[in-house]
Amino acid sequence: MTTTTAPVPVRSPLPWSLAGRTAVILGGSSGIGLAAAGLLASVGAHVLLVGRDKERLESAVARVTEAGTDAAAEVRGVPADVTDGDAMEEVFARAGSVDHVLMTAGYPSGIGPVTELGRDEARAAVAAPAGAVLDIVRAAVPRMEPGGSITLSSGVLVARPRSGMAAPVAAAGAVETLARALAVELAPVRLRANAIRYGAIDTPLLRSRYGATGAGDAAMAEAGAAMPLGRFGTAEEAASAAVFLMANPYMSGEVLAVDGGQSLA
Ligand SMILES: NC(=O)c1ccc[n+]([C@@H]2O[C@H](COP(=O)([O-])OP(=O)(O)OC[C@H]3O[C@@H](n4cnc5c(N)ncnc54)[C@H](OP(=O)(O)O)[C@@H]3O)[C@@H](O)[C@H]2O)c1
Repeated sequence: MTTTTAPVPVRSPLPWSLAGRTAVILGGSSGIGLAAAGLLASVGAHVLLVGRDKERLESAVARVTEAGTDAAAEVRGVPADVTDGDAMEEVFARAGSVDHVLMTAGYPSGIGPVTELGRDEARAAVAAPAGAVLDIVRAAVPRMEPGGSITLSSGVLVARPRSGMAAPVAAAGAVETLARALAVELAPVRLRANAIRYGAIDTPLLRSRYGATGAGDAAMAEAGAAMPLGRFGTAEEAASAAVFLMANPYMSGEVLAVDGGQSLA
């Protein structure tokens, strides 16, 4: 890392300032990551999507490309697993120069009372998400441009823990803390780090929890009706927070909640 005395560049904090910039979205083939890819491509940013399932990734690239993408935007996909540090090196080597990194890959694991989890299962559930972020940061930062950003993902349960969720909540808490620590560590090279704390957002991840088949499924509407605003958030509503954090050069060290008031209810 080469430190600089030049301040972070002044740019418009509005989304279209991301035109021509490159964003790597780890977890870009579904849900919030896929929605972020769509928003970014629509303002002319180049996006590189990462996910494990090659077919799902290819169909995500096709979906983003077809959905009103700005003609200048390049949309690419690279299959890789974020828990594989060598694979992350390869992804960022292929990405070339990178402006923004969004990490939405993963799902809560180690669900259940701590006393009923196996020792290795519990430890892995807590350590793996932050470990993956560390590998991604090591691979990405040397290739990032001043003013760039890293955005991590956590969840509302950090603010309102529920029984049986101790391991995933601890993992998400570590990721939030890492975002703040990275904001301090990367400021001298004029890079920024933030986290987004999502409430219940209607994505394939949440739908699988309710056995729902699609976006308009009645099970989702029924479950969503119990939320403070009467429905779950949409993937686009969640993803727009990521676009805001990328575009605004003065956002760093923030944990931004997009939860429709779920942390208060
Ligand atoms: N949706 C919610 O209500 C909610 C609430 C709180 C927090 N969050 C968090 O927000 C993030 C995004 O959630 P989402 O709802 O958008 O999930 P999603 O729809 O399941 O999408 C997850 C994406 O990550 C990829 N992925 C998963 N594990 C991966 C791995 N090891 N390596 C590479 N890619 C991987 C998936 O593709 P492959 O499976 O093909 O790899 C997929 O593209 C997650 O970290 C989730 O825990 C979500």
